[in-house]
Order: sequence, then structure tokens, then C-alpha cells
Amino acid sequence: MCGIIGYAGEREAAPILLGGLRRLEYRGYDSAGLVVARDGKLCITKAAGYISNLSEAVHGGADLPGTVGLGHTRWATHGKPNETNAHPHISDGGKIAVVHNGTIENYTRLRDFLVSKGYEFFTQTDTEVAVNLIAYFYAESGDVLHAVASAARRMEGQYALGIICEDAPDTIIATKRDAPLFIAVGERENFIVSDVTAVLEHTRTIIRLRDYEIAVLTKDGVTLVTSELDEFTRETETVGWDVSSAEKGGFEHFMIKEITEQPDCVRAALSPRLRDGGIYLDGLGISDEYLRSVERIYITACGTASYVGLVAKYVVEKLARVPTEVVYASEFRYSDPIITDRTLVITLSQSGTTADTIAALREAKRRGAKVLSIVNVVGSVIAEESDWTLYTYAGPEICVASTKAYSTQLALSYVVALKLAQVRGTIEPERFSELLRVLATLPDAIAATLPLREQIQYLASRYASRDNMFFIGRNVDYALAVEGSHKLKEVSYIHSEAFAAGELKHGTIALIEDGTPVVTVAAYSPLLDKTLSNAAEVKSRGARVLAVTTESLREKVESNRDAVDDCIAIPDFEELFLPSLAIIPLQMFAYYCALERGTEIDKPRNLAKSVTVE
Ligand code: M6R
Repeated sequence: MCGIIGYAGEREAAPILLGGLRRLEYRGYDSAGLVVARDGKLCITKAAGYISNLSEAVHGGADLPGTVGLGHTRWATHGKPNETNAHPHISDGGKIAVVHNGTIENYTRLRDFLVSKGYEFFTQTDTEVAVNLIAYFYAESGDVLHAVASAARRMEGQYALGIICEDAPDTIIATKRDAPLFIAVGERENFIVSDVTAVLEHTRTIIRLRDYEIAVLTKDGVTLVTSELDEFTRETETVGWDVSSAEKGGFEHFMIKEITEQPDCVRAALSPRLRDGGIYLDGLGISDEYLRSVERIYITACGTASYVGLVAKYVVEKLARVPTEVVYASEFRYSDPIITDRTLVITLSQSGTTADTIAALREAKRRGAKVLSIVNVVGSVIAEESDWTLYTYAGPEICVASTKAYSTQLALSYVVALKLAQVRGTIEPERFSELLRVLATLPDAIAATLPLREQIQYLASRYASRDNMFFIGRNVDYALAVEGSHKLKEVSYIHSEAFAAGELKHGTIALIEDGTPVVTVAAYSPLLDKTLSNAAEVKSRGARVLAVTTESLREKVESNRDAVDDCIAIPDFEELFLPSLAIIPLQMFAYYCALERGTEIDKPRNLAKSVTVE
């Protein structure tokens, strides 16, 4: 995820900004840049790749003298990761420079407006729209604070912005909406930071900026104003964390941090796609005519991404009635897939660089299929080679075990399924509108599962000592069981397998001993009774059964003492999208079992974040 640091003080800004950017490296980035105000001019240096490239380019900061400046690490969302698209971005005419975290959702509309006013654009980014919009209002009012407030009112989406203007070279302006931004207060120096880690070596005194508020910083002080430019004050806070826990936002591991980030990530994935009561596949160029012509879908991916595919299959088939097959990418090209020009292949990948998924994509295209990919890393091989790419905008996933990538891929799978159903006429318009309305509330529904954390930690402490565990479920619950089991294995090293609940008695039940844990996913209400009777089959042979169900099914599940020992209940939600809620306790269960066992949670043994070999 991008990182921002800004400095206004008496010391040289560039070395401080470079130091801060290094502290932000853990968040992942692909390019970096600096702007420093000097002699009434804005001097900018940017570099693709590591901070060390940027540091070399400015000789550790010596080439950028000046005491006010901004620094940025970019993690590409709009436009390729290269020097041109790196921040800071400068307005047409060069008066204003901006660093930006987040995505401006209405940037195409705003860019058209600015082009009509004669502004030229030189990058592929949404940020260049922000800086030119501020420049446009500045040209009108001659007041940079007014200009920032006016531009902020017109931008939709998420942003944290640091702004510097040639005509006020001792001042930094900052504002935010749905993206973190803090003011850090020092001795005759003040900072803006998207993540307090970047300034802890200079000060621990911070002010939290809230949405739509604007901060104006010089070396001498900080002024806070509302979006209507009314001045107000706020108490400072003192940060108690050390640097290493600050990187994790106060969490012990990236895994649990990323689990709790999922509501925001899913919001970031969905919000550009759900607009004005419809599905908005901006810039994808995928025609309704093509979607109507599709006769068969393959979903191909590896590991966790392929388990998203298992859920997506149920949703696509249910809504759009297109036969859908999920094939491991490592098997796809050897399976002689039956592909025609009416076959749509969907690949899912966090990294966009998984060798087997790339090979499957190429094989699909070679055989004449169109490929739609759901990818997190912008500009990655899979994103670039696909016919159409939907980005998940989950930000960098640092823990090797995938959590927020799973949730964002799944959310976009719902979008694809709904779009297919709409254009193919397999859904009533009223039901379509209703599902879209509910889907927009999915981030909040996921957030409502997060308080289960304490209960799950307690339960995990009772199960974590076992060396074998089984996960069962039916229909989408089976798909979830597969991912729950996968997550548990990779982070806790507990041997685990997942089965369709009805299959256990055809062999695996022989492995059930006294106390063998069987996690039973029982959230899909149409098959609840059948799942519970499968749970009873194992419990009667000694298993200890932990059920994951919904609030409205809880009583029935909990009271069935022949089938269930322990029960976790997620909030009720639209059945079709319930997997997005049910996965959260399974991820937490894996995390807390691993915590009990003291494993290397964020970097499990033998695993790599991106598997670039076959
Ligand atoms: O980057 P990708 O999504 O293509 O990676 C696919 C798998 O390697 C990945 O999901 C893997 O299974 C993770 N360790 C899961 O937690």
C-alpha cells in the first residue's frame, strides 16, 4: 500500500523523508519519489523500484536541499508501476505537487472536465487528476486552502493527500477521506504521515486527522480546519508502540492485521464496481454481447485463489446458469481443456505472477478462450496478459497466508456472477437490484464478524494441541471448508483435510479417534440438517465438533448435542454472499491455533508469497 510522509521544519527535508520512506517499505511499493520546495520552486525526483534507487538519484538527499517537502512510496493502482506514474505528481503548469494514497473513483469524469478546461495529462494515474483539480480551483481563487477544499468536495473514493504549492513553499496542506493520515508534532518541525511508523524516531506526538478535515502545517505549527474551512483544535495523542509493532498497526502479526483489514479491502474492491444501481466495469471493454455468448466457464488458479474459485462456481452457476468448472492452474494446461471461442476462462491471483496461473492463462488464450482475471498487483504479468482485468485493490498482502486477497477476489467474483446473470437475463431485475444493494453492505457485514475474535481465540486454545483436524461442509460450505483447512495447515502446521460432509463415511471416517477435531461449516441453511447428521456421525465416533453457523441457525446447531460440541455464529446475511462472512472465523481459527503453537505465522516454513516456478 502507498505511503506518505511530509516534513516542514528547520532541518534538511530530503534525508528525513528518505528515512521515513524506508520505514514504510514493509508495506510494499513499486516506486518512490520526493518533492522539496527550494527558492520558490518545487524540485521533484522519482525512481522506479527500491528507495535505494531514489536515494542514489538524490545522493542521499544532498541534491534536494530545502526544509519543506513530501515523500511517497507508490503501490500501483492506476497505471503501470514506473517512474512516470510514481508520486509526487505535479499540476500542469508546475505550481502544485501532490502525494496521494487511495483511489479517486470518479477520476475519468474529472479528467474529462479538466481536459475540457485545457489541462494536459502526462501519466496514467488518478492522482494527476487530483493535483490538476486543485490547480484549477487555485487558478480561480488564488487561495490554495480554498482550492484543496473545493477539489476535495468533488473527489469520490478514498484519499489521503499531501499538497505543497510553489507560492506557499513553507507550508504543507493535508486532507483525507477513508484513508489514514496523521499529523506528527515535533519541536519546530511538523510532519504528515500515512503510518506513524515513519516518524517514530522523530516524535511520538500525533494528531489523528478525520475524514474531510484539512491540516495546514508549517515548522511553527499546525492549523486544523473543517471542510468548510472553520478552524478547530484537537488534543494530541502519544504513541506508545515500538516501531516493529507500529508496522503491524499494533497487531502481533500481519496475518491478524490483514484479517481485520478485510472490510476496508472489500469496500475498496467493490466500490468502483457498484455504481448508480448497476455494475460498472469501467474501462474493461467486455461487451454484453460477448457475455451472452459464453457457453462454459473455467476458473483456474492456485492454492487459496483456487478455493475462491470453488465458491465462485456455486455463485456463477446459481445466478448465471453457465456451467463452470474449477481447475487447479497447475493441472489446467495438462488437462486438454475443452475450449471454444465461447469459453470464458477466469484466473484469480493475488500476486499476478504465479507461474502455473500464467501458464494456464497462456494455454487458455492459445486455445482461443478469452481470459478475465481478478488480480491484486497492478501491472503484473497476469493483469497485463489477460483480455480483461479486474483489480482487487486490497493493498499489499504481507503475510504469506492469503486472507484479504481471498475476500476481495470473492467479492469481485460476485460482481462477475451478477453481471453475467444480468446480461443473460437469468435474474429478475428486482432480485438483481436487491442483491446489488445487499452487496454494497458486505464490508459492514464482514466488519460485524470481527468481534468473534475473542471467542475464537479461546476455542483455538482448546483445539490447537491436536495433530490432525478435519473440515467438512456441503455446497458452498464445503468450498469454505477447503480454504479453512488450507489456512490451518499453512500457518499452524497441523495436518488437516477437508471433505464434502457426505463423503467422510466413504473412507476417512476410519481416521476419527477420541477427540479428533472436526470443524463443521454449517452456514448454508438449505443443507443444515444433512450437515448436522454428518457431524453426528463423526461425533458418535469420538470427534470433537466445532460448528461455524449463523446467528439464526445457532440455536438449532448448539442444541444438537449429538452433533456439536462448540459453536461459532456469524451474523445473518444474504445466503449467496454468506461465504464472505463465514471465512473470517476460519481464518481467525487458523491464526489463533498457530499462535498457540508458536509457529512462524507471517512466513511459514517452506512457503513463498509468490510461487514463480512450476
Ligand atoms: O498470488 P496468487 O494468488 O496467484 O497465489 C496463489 C497461491 O500460491 C496462494 O494463494 C497460496 O496458496 C497462499 N499461501 C495461500 O494462503
